[in-house]
Amino acid sequence: MRQSPLILMLNSYLINIIFAKKKLDMSNNLLKGKRGIIFGALDSNSIAWITAERVFEEGGTFVLTNAPVAMRMGQINELAKKTNATVIPADATSIEDLENLISKSMEILGGKLDFVLHSIGMSINVRKGKSYTDQNYDWTHKGLDVSAMSFHRVMQTLYKNDAMNEWGSIVALSYMAAQRVFPDYNDMADNKAFLESVARSFGYFFGKDKNVRVNTISQSPTPTTAGKGVKGFDGFIKYADKMSPLGNATAMDCANYTITLFSDLTKRVTLQNLYNDGGFSNMGVSDSIMDMIENS
Ligand SMILES: NC(=O)c1ccc[n+]([C@@H]2O[C@H](COP(=O)([O-])OP(=O)(O)OC[C@H]3O[C@@H](n4cnc5c(N)ncnc54)[C@H](O)[C@@H]3O)[C@@H](O)[C@H]2O)c1
Repeated sequence: MRQSPLILMLNSYLINIIFAKKKLDMSNNLLKGKRGIIFGALDSNSIAWITAERVFEEGGTFVLTNAPVAMRMGQINELAKKTNATVIPADATSIEDLENLISKSMEILGGKLDFVLHSIGMSINVRKGKSYTDQNYDWTHKGLDVSAMSFHRVMQTLYKNDAMNEWGSIVALSYMAAQRVFPDYNDMADNKAFLESVARSFGYFFGKDKNVRVNTISQSPTPTTAGKGVKGFDGFIKYADKMSPLGNATAMDCANYTITLFSDLTKRVTLQNLYNDGGFSNMGVSDSIMDMIENS
Protein backbone atom coordinates (compact mmCIF):
# COMPACT_ATOMS: atom_id res chain seq x y z
CA MET A 1 0.00 0.00 0.00
CA ARG A 2 1.32 3.46 -0.96
CA GLN A 3 1.63 5.91 1.94
CA SER A 4 0.88 9.59 1.59
CA PRO A 5 3.84 12.04 1.76
CA LEU A 6 2.35 13.45 4.97
CA ILE A 7 2.41 10.02 6.67
CA LEU A 8 5.96 9.38 5.42
CA MET A 9 7.05 12.74 6.85
CA LEU A 10 5.38 12.00 10.19
CA ASN A 11 7.05 8.57 10.31
CA SER A 12 10.50 10.01 9.72
CA TYR A 13 9.81 12.74 12.31
CA LEU A 14 8.85 10.07 14.90
CA ILE A 15 11.92 7.95 14.06
CA ASN A 16 14.15 10.99 14.54
CA ILE A 17 12.58 11.70 17.94
CA ILE A 18 13.05 8.07 19.04
CA PHE A 19 16.72 8.13 17.98
CA ALA A 20 17.35 11.48 19.61
CA LYS A 21 15.81 10.18 22.84
CA LYS A 22 17.91 6.99 22.68
CA LYS A 23 21.03 9.14 22.31
CA LEU A 24 20.04 11.27 25.27
CA ASP A 25 19.40 8.09 27.30
CA MET A 26 23.07 7.11 26.72
CA SER A 27 24.18 10.38 28.26
CA ASN A 28 24.80 10.86 31.95
CA ASN A 29 24.95 14.63 31.64
CA LEU A 30 28.46 14.51 33.09
CA LEU A 31 29.38 17.79 31.38
CA LYS A 32 26.08 19.63 31.73
CA GLY A 33 26.72 23.39 31.91
CA LYS A 34 30.42 23.01 31.09
CA ARG A 35 32.10 25.02 28.32
CA GLY A 36 35.32 24.41 26.47
CA ILE A 37 37.56 24.35 23.42
CA ILE A 38 38.39 21.23 21.37
CA PHE A 39 41.50 21.34 19.17
CA GLY A 40 42.27 18.89 16.37
CA ALA A 41 39.10 17.46 14.76
CA LEU A 42 40.16 16.89 11.16
CA ASP A 43 37.75 14.17 10.02
CA SER A 44 35.41 11.60 11.52
CA ASN A 45 38.36 9.31 12.44
CA SER A 46 40.05 12.00 14.55
CA ILE A 47 40.11 11.34 18.27
CA ALA A 48 39.04 14.99 18.77
CA TRP A 49 36.03 14.48 16.47
CA ILE A 50 34.72 11.53 18.44
CA THR A 51 35.46 13.32 21.70
CA ALA A 52 33.47 16.35 20.50
CA GLU A 53 30.49 14.10 19.75
CA ARG A 54 30.69 12.54 23.22
CA VAL A 55 31.13 15.91 24.97
CA PHE A 56 28.02 17.12 23.14
CA GLU A 57 26.09 14.01 24.25
CA GLU A 58 27.17 14.65 27.84
CA GLY A 59 25.74 18.18 27.74
CA GLY A 60 28.94 20.21 27.20
CA THR A 61 29.13 23.19 24.85
CA PHE A 62 32.30 24.10 22.98
CA VAL A 63 34.19 25.87 20.25
CA LEU A 64 35.94 23.69 17.66
CA THR A 65 39.30 24.77 16.31
CA ASN A 66 41.97 23.60 13.90
CA ALA A 67 44.78 25.07 11.81
CA PRO A 68 43.39 27.17 8.93
CA VAL A 69 45.00 24.82 6.39
CA ALA A 70 43.37 21.76 8.00
CA MET A 71 39.98 23.43 7.79
CA ARG A 72 40.21 23.49 4.03
CA MET A 73 41.04 19.76 3.95
CA GLY A 74 38.80 18.59 6.76
CA GLN A 75 35.10 18.43 7.39
CA ILE A 76 34.94 20.38 10.63
CA ASN A 77 31.82 22.35 9.63
CA GLU A 78 29.87 19.12 9.42
CA LEU A 79 30.87 18.31 13.02
CA ALA A 80 30.07 21.86 14.14
CA LYS A 81 26.56 21.54 12.73
CA LYS A 82 25.96 18.25 14.53
CA THR A 83 27.21 19.54 17.86
CA ASN A 84 25.90 23.14 17.78
CA ALA A 85 29.49 24.37 17.95
CA THR A 86 31.17 27.44 16.50
CA VAL A 87 34.40 26.97 14.54
CA ILE A 88 37.30 29.38 15.06
CA PRO A 89 40.46 28.70 13.05
CA ALA A 90 43.75 28.89 14.97
CA ASP A 91 47.26 27.76 14.20
CA ALA A 92 48.49 26.38 17.52
CA THR A 93 51.95 27.82 16.81
CA SER A 94 50.59 31.39 16.74
CA ILE A 95 50.03 33.33 19.97
CA GLU A 96 47.89 35.85 18.08
CA ASP A 97 45.59 33.10 16.83
CA LEU A 98 45.35 31.59 20.31
CA GLU A 99 44.60 34.97 21.94
CA ASN A 100 41.82 35.50 19.42
CA LEU A 101 40.49 31.94 19.83
CA ILE A 102 40.35 32.12 23.61
CA SER A 103 38.80 35.58 23.92
CA LYS A 104 36.21 34.86 21.20
CA SER A 105 35.39 31.46 22.74
CA MET A 106 34.64 33.06 26.11
CA GLU A 107 32.41 35.61 24.38
CA ILE A 108 30.52 32.98 22.36
CA LEU A 109 30.18 30.48 25.22
CA GLY A 110 29.24 33.19 27.71
CA GLY A 111 32.00 32.83 30.29
CA LYS A 112 35.25 31.19 31.33
CA LEU A 113 36.15 27.68 30.20
CA ASP A 114 35.83 24.37 32.05
CA PHE A 115 37.68 22.08 29.66
CA VAL A 116 40.26 22.17 26.87
CA LEU A 117 41.37 19.25 24.68
CA HIS A 118 44.75 19.53 22.91
CA SER A 119 44.62 16.83 20.22
CA ILE A 120 47.39 18.03 17.91
CA GLY A 121 50.35 16.18 16.47
CA MET A 122 52.51 16.44 13.37
CA SER A 123 56.04 15.47 12.29
CA ILE A 124 57.37 16.44 8.88
CA ASN A 125 60.24 13.94 9.32
CA VAL A 126 57.66 11.17 9.77
CA ARG A 127 55.57 12.43 6.90
CA LYS A 128 58.52 12.63 4.52
CA GLY A 129 60.07 9.33 5.60
CA LYS A 130 63.26 10.80 7.14
CA SER A 131 64.68 8.40 9.69
CA TYR A 132 65.54 9.37 13.28
CA THR A 133 69.25 9.20 12.42
CA ASP A 134 68.91 11.56 9.46
CA GLN A 135 66.74 14.43 10.70
CA ASN A 136 66.04 17.61 8.84
CA TYR A 137 66.28 19.90 11.87
CA ASP A 138 64.00 22.56 10.42
CA TRP A 139 61.33 19.89 10.27
CA THR A 140 62.24 18.61 13.74
CA HIS A 141 61.79 22.17 15.04
CA LYS A 142 58.46 22.58 13.32
CA GLY A 143 57.19 19.24 14.65
CA LEU A 144 58.20 20.14 18.21
CA ASP A 145 56.55 23.53 17.88
CA VAL A 146 53.26 22.11 16.57
CA SER A 147 53.05 18.93 18.63
CA ALA A 148 54.45 19.94 22.01
CA MET A 149 55.35 23.59 22.48
CA SER A 150 51.82 24.41 21.29
CA PHE A 151 50.53 22.82 24.50
CA HIS A 152 52.60 25.27 26.56
CA ARG A 153 51.42 28.11 24.34
CA VAL A 154 47.76 27.14 24.73
CA MET A 155 48.10 26.87 28.51
CA GLN A 156 50.09 30.10 28.86
CA THR A 157 47.42 31.97 26.89
CA LEU A 158 44.64 30.45 29.02
CA TYR A 159 46.58 31.22 32.20
CA LYS A 160 47.45 34.84 31.38
CA ASN A 161 43.88 35.58 30.30
CA ASP A 162 42.51 33.87 33.41
CA ALA A 163 40.31 31.93 30.99
CA MET A 164 39.77 28.72 33.03
CA ASN A 165 37.10 28.26 35.68
CA GLU A 166 38.12 26.76 39.03
CA TRP A 167 38.13 22.94 38.87
CA GLY A 168 38.46 23.08 35.11
CA SER A 169 40.39 20.40 33.25
CA ILE A 170 42.97 20.47 30.46
CA VAL A 171 43.89 17.28 28.57
CA ALA A 172 46.46 16.55 25.84
CA LEU A 173 46.95 13.28 23.98
CA SER A 174 50.23 11.40 24.12
CA TYR A 175 51.78 8.08 23.19
CA MET A 176 54.00 5.72 25.11
CA ALA A 177 56.97 6.27 22.79
CA ALA A 178 57.61 9.07 25.32
CA GLN A 179 58.82 6.33 27.70
CA ARG A 180 59.86 3.40 25.46
CA VAL A 181 61.56 3.00 22.10
CA PHE A 182 59.39 2.70 18.99
CA PRO A 183 61.92 3.43 16.21
CA ASP A 184 59.48 4.47 13.49
CA TYR A 185 57.68 6.91 15.78
CA ASN A 186 60.77 9.01 15.08
CA ASP A 187 60.97 12.57 16.48
CA MET A 188 57.34 12.32 17.64
CA ALA A 189 58.71 10.31 20.60
CA ASP A 190 60.70 13.35 21.75
CA ASN A 191 57.73 15.62 21.10
CA LYS A 192 55.52 13.44 23.33
CA ALA A 193 58.15 13.39 26.11
CA PHE A 194 58.21 17.21 25.96
CA LEU A 195 54.38 17.34 25.92
CA GLU A 196 54.07 15.15 29.02
CA SER A 197 56.68 17.22 30.84
CA VAL A 198 54.84 20.45 30.01
CA ALA A 199 51.65 18.92 31.40
CA ARG A 200 53.38 18.33 34.75
CA SER A 201 55.25 21.65 34.87
CA PHE A 202 52.33 23.85 33.84
CA GLY A 203 49.92 21.65 35.76
CA TYR A 204 51.71 22.67 38.96
CA PHE A 205 51.05 26.37 38.36
CA PHE A 206 47.52 25.80 37.10
CA GLY A 207 46.74 23.68 40.16
CA LYS A 208 48.28 25.96 42.76
CA ASP A 209 47.07 29.28 41.30
CA LYS A 210 43.75 28.38 39.71
CA ASN A 211 42.59 24.93 40.93
CA VAL A 212 42.73 23.58 37.39
CA ARG A 213 43.79 20.02 36.43
CA VAL A 214 46.27 19.20 33.65
CA ASN A 215 46.79 15.64 32.41
CA THR A 216 47.89 13.70 29.35
CA ILE A 217 46.26 10.50 28.10
CA SER A 218 48.67 8.00 26.57
CA GLN A 219 46.52 6.35 23.92
CA SER A 220 46.86 3.05 22.00
CA PRO A 221 47.71 3.24 18.29
CA THR A 222 44.51 4.44 16.60
CA PRO A 223 43.72 4.48 12.85
CA THR A 224 43.53 8.25 12.20
CA THR A 225 45.29 10.48 9.66
CA ALA A 226 48.14 11.18 12.11
CA GLY A 227 48.32 7.54 13.30
CA LYS A 228 48.33 6.01 9.83
CA GLY A 229 51.14 8.38 8.83
CA VAL A 230 53.60 6.39 10.99
CA LYS A 231 55.67 3.89 8.97
CA GLY A 232 54.50 0.28 9.45
CA PHE A 233 51.31 1.40 11.23
CA ASP A 234 49.28 -1.70 10.22
CA GLY A 235 51.75 -4.10 11.82
CA PHE A 236 52.21 -1.80 14.74
CA ILE A 237 48.52 -1.59 15.65
CA LYS A 238 48.11 -5.39 15.37
CA TYR A 239 51.15 -5.97 17.57
CA ALA A 240 49.82 -3.59 20.26
CA ASP A 241 46.44 -5.31 20.13
CA LYS A 242 47.97 -8.78 20.62
CA MET A 243 50.15 -7.52 23.46
CA SER A 244 47.31 -5.87 25.39
CA PRO A 245 45.16 -8.05 27.65
CA LEU A 246 42.15 -5.82 26.91
CA GLY A 247 43.11 -5.10 23.30
CA ASN A 248 43.78 -1.65 21.88
CA ALA A 249 41.79 1.28 23.19
CA THR A 250 39.72 2.81 20.37
CA ALA A 251 39.16 6.48 19.64
CA MET A 252 35.77 6.11 21.39
CA ASP A 253 37.50 4.66 24.48
CA CYS A 254 39.79 7.68 24.45
CA ALA A 255 36.81 10.03 24.12
CA ASN A 256 35.07 8.35 27.06
CA TYR A 257 38.19 8.56 29.23
CA THR A 258 38.51 12.25 28.34
CA ILE A 259 34.88 12.80 29.42
CA THR A 260 35.73 11.45 32.88
CA LEU A 261 38.71 13.81 33.08
CA PHE A 262 36.56 16.78 32.08
CA SER A 263 33.86 15.81 34.58
CA ASP A 264 33.70 16.62 38.30
CA LEU A 265 34.35 12.94 39.09
CA THR A 266 38.13 13.40 38.76
CA LYS A 267 38.62 16.75 40.50
CA ARG A 268 41.95 15.95 42.10
CA VAL A 269 43.55 13.95 39.32
CA THR A 270 46.33 16.16 37.97
CA LEU A 271 49.97 16.14 36.70
CA GLN A 272 49.38 12.59 35.44
CA ASN A 273 50.17 10.74 32.26
CA LEU A 274 47.30 8.23 32.16
CA TYR A 275 47.53 5.10 30.04
CA ASN A 276 44.46 4.26 27.97
CA ASP A 277 46.00 1.28 26.21
CA GLY A 278 44.32 -1.98 27.25
CA GLY A 279 47.25 -2.76 29.55
CA PHE A 280 49.97 -2.57 26.89
CA SER A 281 52.29 -0.32 28.91
CA ASN A 282 52.79 -2.90 31.69
CA MET A 283 53.24 -5.93 29.45
CA GLY A 284 56.48 -7.79 28.73
CA VAL A 285 55.10 -10.40 26.36
CA SER A 286 51.72 -12.05 25.77
CA ASP A 287 50.65 -15.61 24.89
CA SER A 288 49.50 -14.59 21.43
CA ILE A 289 52.82 -12.92 20.61
CA MET A 290 54.67 -16.02 21.95
CA ASP A 291 52.46 -18.30 19.81
CA MET A 292 53.25 -16.23 16.73
CA ILE A 293 56.99 -16.36 17.40
CA GLU A 294 57.04 -20.09 18.20
CA ASN A 295 55.00 -20.91 15.08
CA SER A 296 56.98 -18.70 12.74
N1 LIG B 1 46.43 7.94 16.22
C1 LIG B 1 47.24 7.40 17.09
O1 LIG B 1 47.72 6.26 16.93
C2 LIG B 1 47.58 8.16 18.34
C3 LIG B 1 48.10 7.46 19.47
C4 LIG B 1 48.44 8.18 20.60
C5 LIG B 1 48.29 9.57 20.60
N2 LIG B 1 47.80 10.22 19.50
C6 LIG B 1 47.68 11.68 19.52
O2 LIG B 1 46.34 12.06 19.42
C7 LIG B 1 46.28 13.41 18.93
C8 LIG B 1 45.25 13.50 17.83
O3 LIG B 1 45.67 12.82 16.68
P1 LIG B 1 44.72 11.87 15.83
O4 LIG B 1 45.30 10.51 15.93
O5 LIG B 1 43.29 12.09 16.17
O6 LIG B 1 45.03 12.35 14.33
P2 LIG B 1 44.42 13.54 13.43
O7 LIG B 1 45.34 13.61 12.25
O8 LIG B 1 43.00 13.33 13.16
O9 LIG B 1 44.61 14.84 14.35
C9 LIG B 1 45.78 15.62 14.41
C10 LIG B 1 45.32 17.06 14.36
O10 LIG B 1 46.40 18.00 14.57
C11 LIG B 1 46.03 19.15 13.84
N3 LIG B 1 47.12 20.11 13.64
C12 LIG B 1 48.28 19.89 12.94
N4 LIG B 1 49.01 21.03 12.92
C13 LIG B 1 48.31 21.96 13.63
C14 LIG B 1 48.55 23.33 13.95
N5 LIG B 1 49.65 23.98 13.55
N6 LIG B 1 47.61 23.99 14.70
C15 LIG B 1 46.48 23.36 15.09
N7 LIG B 1 46.20 22.06 14.83
C16 LIG B 1 47.10 21.38 14.08
C17 LIG B 1 45.57 18.54 12.51
O11 LIG B 1 44.90 19.45 11.67
C18 LIG B 1 44.69 17.41 13.01
O12 LIG B 1 43.36 17.86 13.19
C19 LIG B 1 47.71 13.76 18.52
O13 LIG B 1 48.34 14.46 19.56
C20 LIG B 1 48.34 12.40 18.35
O14 LIG B 1 49.75 12.43 18.45
C21 LIG B 1 47.43 9.54 18.38
